[in-house]
Amino acid sequence: MARGRLLGCADAPGKVILFGEHFVVEGVPAIATAVGLRARACAYEVEGLGGVFVYSSVFDESLRVFPSSNPKVMNFHEVVKYIHNMLGIDEHRDILVRIDSAIPPAAGLGSSAATAVAFAAAYALAYGVRLTPEEASRAAYEAEKIVHGRPSGIDNTIAAQGGTILYRRGAGFERIRPSLEGCRLVIADTGVKRSTRKAVELVLERKRRLRRLGDAIYETAALLVEEARRALEEGDAELLGILMDVNQGLLNAMGVSIPRIEELVYRARRAGAYGAKLTGAGLGGCVIALTSTRTADAVSKALEEAGARTYIAELDAPGLRVEPCRG
Ligand code: MEV
Repeated sequence: MARGRLLGCADAPGKVILFGEHFVVEGVPAIATAVGLRARACAYEVEGLGGVFVYSSVFDESLRVFPSSNPKVMNFHEVVKYIHNMLGIDEHRDILVRIDSAIPPAAGLGSSAATAVAFAAAYALAYGVRLTPEEASRAAYEAEKIVHGRPSGIDNTIAAQGGTILYRRGAGFERIRPSLEGCRLVIADTGVKRSTRKAVELVLERKRRLRRLGDAIYETAALLVEEARRALEEGDAELLGILMDVNQGLLNAMGVSIPRIEELVYRARRAGAYGAKLTGAGLGGCVIALTSTRTADAVSKALEEAGARTYIAELDAPGLRVEPCRG
């Protein structure tokens, strides 16, 4: 792959939703934290390339993003369009953006949003512009609409801002300062791939069919997030664990848990986790378990023995980082 002249790089973290996924789509607040798995994008100017291209190990080839109507890269296409509009640029330079990501894709860890945030910031560097986290987040939201259909905006917000946030659709985010130094998250990939779009549609359909009962479940979810915020700030890991278990019960009620998720959740609890739940869309993807630094290894081992790939992560990782090339 021709590389050309490096113009700059940017990287952004993956995330887990600690509380409130799905309910957030209908206006309930959710709490997300950035984790130490990151996506990195570097922009190169390559003479004679004939447009904007992206290379990622996911497709293992360079694909033209602009001009293009290739559905595989429509997310990047929308980001390029957004940035050109935002910066008022008509010219298209020959740019290749290379993406390297440590975030497992389609697992509920915000890989598409982190990639889009890093891509947007690296691409803007090609025009000498350093995007703010807010700008990169807005550009990435355009990509998220292609990937997810009706995204709440939480994934692009946390990828750009980092840390831990309370997010409410349409009202933006508020930072939370968790006090959980002695805690770890064990993230376990069920290995079951699923579509966020399908999961969101399924939950919304179930809520509609449940009518007042659906409303009551959403009200409970809102109360749960309120309690979780307090427990995070007070560093009450035991209560947080119980609240995670309750959140898992609500997600199960809305139809997005599956036997493999339940199996990993119960194994994590038995191995000493404070609590465990699915994270993100469900129907597959990842399970998260809150543990102390002491029990993290034992919980991770129990989940690996069940055949899951696991990651032990710190919470509250930094957001978008931008490195323009000098000279
Ligand atoms: C997906 O990571 C989280 C969902 O709540 C959808 C969204 O917030 O866009 C299921």
